[in-house]
Order: sequence, then structure tokens, then C-alpha cells
Amino acid sequence: MNNYIFQPTFGNRPNEYIGRDEIINQFMEGLREPVGSRNRCTLFLGQRGMGKTALLLELGDRAAKQDFVIARVTAYEGMPKAIIEQLQLNGSPFFKDEKRKVTGFNAGVFGFSFGLTFSEAAERQYGFRSKMSLLCDRLAEKGKGVLILIDEVCSSAAMREVASAYQELVGDGKNIAIAMAGLPHAVSSVLNDKVLTFLNRATKIELGLISTNLIKAYYNQVFESIGIHASDDILHKAAAATRGFPYLMQLVGYYLIRYTPENGEIGESIMDKAEKAAMNDLEDNVFKPILVPLSDNDRFFLEAMAKCGETITTAKLQSKLGKKSQALQTYRKRLLDVGVIAAPRRGELVFTVPYFDEYLRKS
Ligand SMILES: Nc1ncnc2c1ncn2[C@@H]1O[C@H](COP(=O)(O)OP(=O)(O)OP(=O)(O)O)[C@@H](O)[C@H]1O
Ligand SMILES: [Mg+2]
Repeated sequence: MNNYIFQPTFGNRPNEYIGRDEIINQFMEGLREPVGSRNRCTLFLGQRGMGKTALLLELGDRAAKQDFVIARVTAYEGMPKAIIEQLQLNGSPFFKDEKRKVTGFNAGVFGFSFGLTFSEAAERQYGFRSKMSLLCDRLAEKGKGVLILIDEVCSSAAMREVASAYQELVGDGKNIAIAMAGLPHAVSSVLNDKVLTFLNRATKIELGLISTNLIKAYYNQVFESIGIHASDDILHKAAAATRGFPYLMQLVGYYLIRYTPENGEIGESIMDKAEKAAMNDLEDNVFKPILVPLSDNDRFFLEAMAKCGETITTAKLQSKLGKKSQALQTYRKRLLDVGVIAAPRRGELVFTVPYFDEYLRKS
């Protein structure tokens, strides 16, 4: 069977990015607004597997078709240098005719020896902000803007450097925009950093679960397109099994196609088999890796949470673990940081990845 449509891996670009049209349109419209407008600086927040990396890839692809040169990076220490390199690389096709190196007095465009390659003096003397300013001007000559995509936003010196340069470049009227993505909690600690208050002004968009109705319609469309038949009941079951979690949507879709027999009919037993295989992968690729770096105490905390029932409150956890709330704070904070749990309300906790509580109860 044709099985290229679903690709259950992390950090890839899905065949089709579904269920986020509004979010995508809002950002793309921002790119058409004047420099400095609010939607040109957007921060996407979502838990593990919710589709942050895939969204940045999608936005990058679309923006590239609308005259933006893209720099896609993660917020690690080498980020400023990586942004410059990405812009030089991705912008170079627009300078194909200027490959020849120009030498001698007054040669080349100011700051550049040829194309988007800096002159030796510029390379030596200029820092990130000045280089960005030169690149923005040079790309603007070709009618191009600059879009920076930053994945896994966190609090770091590199992040601060890029943030303040961005503000200054906007102040200078450069055609630049920025889309960032991160775990809700990692970003909330970033937002307390004074130097990054500008992120507070960014448009913040939460990436939640996708509607299972949409997933059902998507499965229907995909299966029809490759000659697989599934009853409405099976489609409903398949969509419900994903619980709206994008990674699971890829997994369930992938196994359904893989197990479909020659006659193209998905029956109950295929559905069950696909769901089990998807759950195994979810355990191996999401749950087990989440648990590996955690301490025994972190695990006890999670297991106690899993036994709390519908609503998980600090009071319930305290009585289950027999610890003072002070001691619980340490585990709570660490688990919030890794994005395994979230605190929707004061004194209340929830699991962020579907089925994780069931897995913990079982293991
Ligand atoms: N809206 C979507 N439509 C289709 N597939 C999606 C969608 N969102 C995510 N996916 C798929 O789900 C999987 C997980 O997505 P992704 O890697 O972008 O998650 P993430 O939020 O970046 O996770 P992490 O926090 O672990 O980096 C990928 O296989 C991706 O292609
Ligand atoms: Mg990611």
C-alpha cells in the first residue's frame, strides 16, 4: 500500500498541515502588513508533539513563496551566527549573476565582497546587528524581506542578542519578521527576563489539540484518494483514538494504511491492530524518553498525579505523597519545564500528552 502520506516522526514537515488555517493565515497576513506591525512578531506555544516545528516549516515554505528569505534556527548559543549563515545560503540564488569576486579599491557593494558574502573588513568588524542590517538592505534590493524562525525558544544570551537586534532593525524600518515556537512553560520563564520584554508584545498563539472531526474528515479524504475504504464508524474510531494529538494522528493513519489488506477494506480488526501499534510507538517514542531523564522522585510525583482521578489538585498530591508543599514545588517546576504537565489553574495540574496518565497507571 501507498504509505508516504503519514510520516510519524518528529520535526518533519507533514504531507498536509491540517487544522491550523486560521493561525497560518493570520501570520501570513502579518507579513503583508507594514514593518513593525504586531503579527510580524509571533510566538507559538504548544506542548510536545503539538506541531510547533511542523508549523514553522509550513510558515517558512509559504513565506519563501512571498518574497521572504528564511533563516530557520533553534535558540541555542550559536543562533546569531546560524541566522546570518542561513540568510546568506537561502538568499544566494538571488545573486547568482554576481558570483564573480570584485577586488580593488571601492569594489563591491558596501560591506560585501560579492553576493551576500561580507568583505573581510565587515566580517571582522561587524557584530550580529550590523551584519543583519547589511543583509536586510542587500536583500531588499532584490525585493526580498527576511523571516527568522526560532524553534525551542528559551532564555539564553543568544536569544537576548537576537531579540534586541530585531527590535533595532524594526526601528530602522527593515523588512523583517520573526516567528518563534516553544513549550508554554519554557517560554513563561523567558518572559520574566527583562531584556526579553519585547516577547510580551509579540502576538502569542496557543497550539492546542486538533478537532477530531477535522481529523476524521482528513482520514476520509486521504483514504478515498488512495482507494481505501473505511466505514463511518471506523473513521470515527480512528479519529477518536488520536484524541486530537497531531503526532498520534500521523501514527494511527500510518498503521491503518500499513495494515490494510489488498482488497482496501479497513475492518474492526485492522483498526484494533493499528491502534495498538500506534500506542506502542507512542510509548516508545514519547513516554519512555520523557521518563528516562527524570529522577525517582519525579516519577513518584507523576505516578501520584496519575492516581488522582479527573482533577489533580496540589492538596490531593500532598496527601498521596505525604510531602510538604515546599518539597513538591521542586518536582512540579521541573515537570512543568519539560512540558509533561501543565498548570491550567492555580493549585491544579493536568497531563499534557494524551494517554500518559493511563500509561503511568499501567507501568
Ligand atoms: N497540524 C498538523 N497536521 C498534520 N501533521 C501534524 C500537524 N502538527 C504536527 N504534525 C505531525 O506531528 C508530529 C509532531 O509534530 P512536531 O515535531 O512539529 O511537534 P513539536 O510541537 O515540534 O514537538 P516537540 O515539542 O517535541 O519539538 C510530526 O510528525 C508532524 O509532522
Ligand atoms: Mg519541535
